[in-house]
Amino acid sequence: MEAKDKFTLGLELPTDPRWVNIAETHLEDILVDHAYCEQKAASSCISLIVLYPEKDLLVERLSPIVAEEWSHFERVLAELRKRGWSLGRQRKDEYVEKLSRVIQKGGSREQQLMEKLLMNALIEARSCERFKILWKHIPDQELAEFYHELMISEAGHYKNFLQLAKEYMPEEVVMNRWHELLEQEAEIVKGLGLRGDRMH
Ligand SMILES: [Fe+2]
Ligand SMILES: [Fe+2]
Repeated sequence: MEAKDKFTLGLELPTDPRWVNIAETHLEDILVDHAYCEQKAASSCISLIVLYPEKDLLVERLSPIVAEEWSHFERVLAELRKRGWSLGRQRKDEYVEKLSRVIQKGGSREQQLMEKLLMNALIEARSCERFKILWKHIPDQELAEFYHELMISEAGHYKNFLQLAKEYMPEEVVMNRWHELLEQEAEIVKGLGLRGDRMH
């Protein structure tokens, strides 16, 4: 049943094309929200390292991602500063809140790890999709190039998270769960509606 028009990274629901037009007119909100996405990505990798220090491969793969996400955070800060804007307070992240509700709690330590890794992979995949849209539509050439670079970087992270999940749980289990989560993520995105002042 591959009749469905699949697009980047296996996501089930493409972003509404009108999103970027609204996003463009809310650039300050988008940049602030984006900065916090990078901060959360770094924090999430740090948490995984602290929770699973015995897993050498995980520690080895995620440590450089922490540094990379933090450098993204600094670069978004620079884009804000360039425009005379401040970081401002973090806004409620409904997307991540809703995603964390579909993540299964309990089970073995490895199962919990798989859930966390897949949640990270989902966020990376959706961010990557949004960066691609921003790259293609933002008229500011410098900013567009930045989004292009991020699109590539987050695609790499997405792969890393998925591969790591397969290191600690059987591939079939991971892929079944991944497909379930992709469907749930699509429902979440649909439910959130169109918000041009948020990355997700
Ligand atoms: Fe990033
Ligand atoms: Fe990332």
